Amino acid sequence: MLVTAGPTRERIDPVRYLSNDSSGTMGFAIAEAAKAAGHDVVLVAGPVDLATPKGVRRVNVESAREMLVAVREAFEACDALFMAAAVCDFRPARRFRGKWRKKDDRQGRASLELVPNPDILASVTRRKGDRLVVGFALETGDGLRRAMNKLEKKRMDYVVLNGPSALNAARTSVTIIGRDGSQRRLTDRTKRAVAKALVGLRSPDADR
Ligand code: CTP
Repeated sequence: MLVTAGPTRERIDPVRYLSNDSSGTMGFAIAEAAKAAGHDVVLVAGPVDLATPKGVRRVNVESAREMLVAVREAFEACDALFMAAAVCDFRPARRFRGKWRKKDDRQGRASLELVPNPDILASVTRRKGDRLVVGFALETGDGLRRAMNKLEKKRMDYVVLNGPSALNAARTSVTIIGRDGSQRRLTDRTKRAVAKALVGLRSPDADR
């Protein structure tokens, strides 16, 4: 099983970056649960301060582009992908070789040009085969429709819908939406409990 976790970090200069509040807890919990269920697990992790679950092979990455390379490589040999990483959608168009200094900007204002990062999930699921693919959707407000659109667009089997309160938190509430239209709500659970439920998912057409 291939699991991604944590944020990505997009460098502005040698000492600054763009990132987000992801702690990596959900992805690490999935990796741990998958290992406990007897699977071989590769965990592609952004920069987080968490111990590697016992017996899990961890690949550390920093940026979205590095994550794409690591995920592409491990995807070939995996039976399931859990894409829990909070990938930065954009990165600075250029990286300053030295520090970005105040004097570089005119009239007390600064702006940073951003370019889109590759969509890792959408990229690897072009050759999905019969792998189980579970993605996440972090939405503000009622995100059901948006989550279902992501499921379809990125060719997932399941999308795990959660809110911003899930970031960096011990407990979470999620709705697991299946490609077959199924919905399962888990309210105020530990991430460990959610991870166990996710690892137990089977492809929506496994019985057909
Ligand atoms: N994802 C990815 N590569 C990206 C952005 C997101 O693989 N560049 C994955 C995430 O890991 C997650 C899923 O796609 O499993 C949905 O991520 P989300 O950020 O909610 O979706 P976006 O497509 O980035 O949409 P938006 O931020 O505009 O809501």
